Amino acid sequence: MFWLTLVTCFLFVSWGTAVDVNWYKNIIVYQIYPRSFKDGNGDGIGDLNGITSKLEHVADIGAKALWLSPIYKSPQVDFGYDISNFTDVDPNYGTLADFDRLIAKARRLKLKVIMDFVPNHSSNQHPWFQKSIRKVKPYDQYYVWRDAKIVNGKRQPPNNWLSNFGGSAWQWNDVRKQYYLHQFATAQPDLNYRNTALNQEMKNVLTFWMNRGVDGFRIAAINFMFEDAKFRDERRSNKTGIPKDDYDSLVHIYTKDQNETYVTLKSWRKLMDEYSNRTKSDPKLILTEAYTTHDLTIKYYNAGSNVPFNFMFINQLNNESSAMDFKRLIDKWVRTVPKGSVPNWVVGNHDNHRVATKFGRRRAEQIIQMSMILPGISVIYNGDEIGMVDRNFTYAETVDPAGCNAGHNRYYLKTRDPERTPYQWNNSTSAGFSTKAKTWLPVNPNYKTLNLQVQEKVYYSHYQHFKSSASLKKQAVVARGSLKLIIYPRYKILSISRTLGFDTVVMLFNFDKVSVTLDAKTALPFSSDLVVHTVIGDSDFRLGTFVSTDSITLPQSSTIVFTTPNLFWSKNEDV
Ligand code: NOJ
Repeated sequence: MFWLTLVTCFLFVSWGTAVDVNWYKNIIVYQIYPRSFKDGNGDGIGDLNGITSKLEHVADIGAKALWLSPIYKSPQVDFGYDISNFTDVDPNYGTLADFDRLIAKARRLKLKVIMDFVPNHSSNQHPWFQKSIRKVKPYDQYYVWRDAKIVNGKRQPPNNWLSNFGGSAWQWNDVRKQYYLHQFATAQPDLNYRNTALNQEMKNVLTFWMNRGVDGFRIAAINFMFEDAKFRDERRSNKTGIPKDDYDSLVHIYTKDQNETYVTLKSWRKLMDEYSNRTKSDPKLILTEAYTTHDLTIKYYNAGSNVPFNFMFINQLNNESSAMDFKRLIDKWVRTVPKGSVPNWVVGNHDNHRVATKFGRRRAEQIIQMSMILPGISVIYNGDEIGMVDRNFTYAETVDPAGCNAGHNRYYLKTRDPERTPYQWNNSTSAGFSTKAKTWLPVNPNYKTLNLQVQEKVYYSHYQHFKSSASLKKQAVVARGSLKLIIYPRYKILSISRTLGFDTVVMLFNFDKVSVTLDAKTALPFSSDLVVHTVIGDSDFRLGTFVSTDSITLPQSSTIVFTTPNLFWSKNEDV
């Protein structure tokens, strides 16, 4: 019978083809930074064939989707975020045919592929910009151009807006005799979303990649897409001790978070939904990057984002944070996610210090563990599964424009090179990243001992803890179970528990510098039935053993995960 049948998870749209409308609701998304993941051709720069050769690793760690940072044609001023052709692959990374092969292998491994989509700006080398300079129609309106302000007979930028990478956000163009806006590098002119032709071009870009089989988009810097239509000056912030042209010296009420952004996102959601309905395929995933307030982040859900990045581990919590701080922020996220949507937990990315550097290795493992037990989506940056750490850079070594522009004395405050060093696969040349000894960024010298190959063999390694935590993500109790967060005695223990029917997962996280003993009956609702699933930190707990019914002692700064026995035994099985 060829009838349409609706079941809980699968919508059968024709005999044999099932559309899974919930595919993304409880998964790990793994971010790959292509320049640094795996070099397939020995030129010292990572590429698509390199990534394809390592897709088994992505599947192995339990990820369901990989998000590729930009692979588009680009002069590489901002390492791919300055795009000169939105529908082609940069020769550094390969060809469209290589991309197709990557997609085909990902399909075989049941991995979804998410592209970075960079709508705010293009490269100044993009043909659109070159034509815009010469006022060729319709490109003349594709960018944000303004006349100079003349002060005392001298040419000045139209207003006081600043670039994220320092200095004025306006650059004079001597051919067009106007300033153009660039909220990032000078070589990244901002696109003008008040122009409908430009808007249509960008929709065509989305369709181009959907036709090539991509499953969704991570939309970069989405909250910079629109600016105040009146181009008003921004007021000064109260930050002290920073240069006058530092981005943080202004309060960005006219260059960020404008309402029109949400309207445009809705139109992209519609485009993608129409596409997946037409092609009878799984819904496309939209992840949005906006460093903004909680309320404005949550608002992206209503405009069609499935994953408005939750950056609380990155910018709201640190090593001083208490159990209560964690609980308060987690509760707030879970409480404010709209009905039918899911929370997400970003552990790290290519724009911020590595989680193991910011929090230390052990706390980083605990945060990863947390992101796996909490409901929704865990977003993992490549290398964090083996606890890679930042490498310090001298100014002379610095290549990130954010660092270079900040100058000799302040580059280290802004540079993102430390978290972008090549992936550490093994202890051979260039950590197995490349056959070339000189790579685009130097390999962290700790690769001899800190690498995937070593950690695969060690039972209690960062990698093994990661895999153990990740195994829980696939369980129904984590997908659909109830969630409870409790703070225990002296406010030092955070308990996160999930329960569904007879299944239970409890994570006890000791924030104290001394060991703490808890009454097991209070801490573990079904204590007699629980076994030790994962141990992070020094502890006598043995994996797979039943927990005592009276008291539990948690060594300082440790985390123990207890589960019902079935969840322990299915640890390494695909469920
Ligand atoms: C967002 C990206 O994550 C970041 O790396 C980049 O520098 C900015 N967009 C500007 O292109």
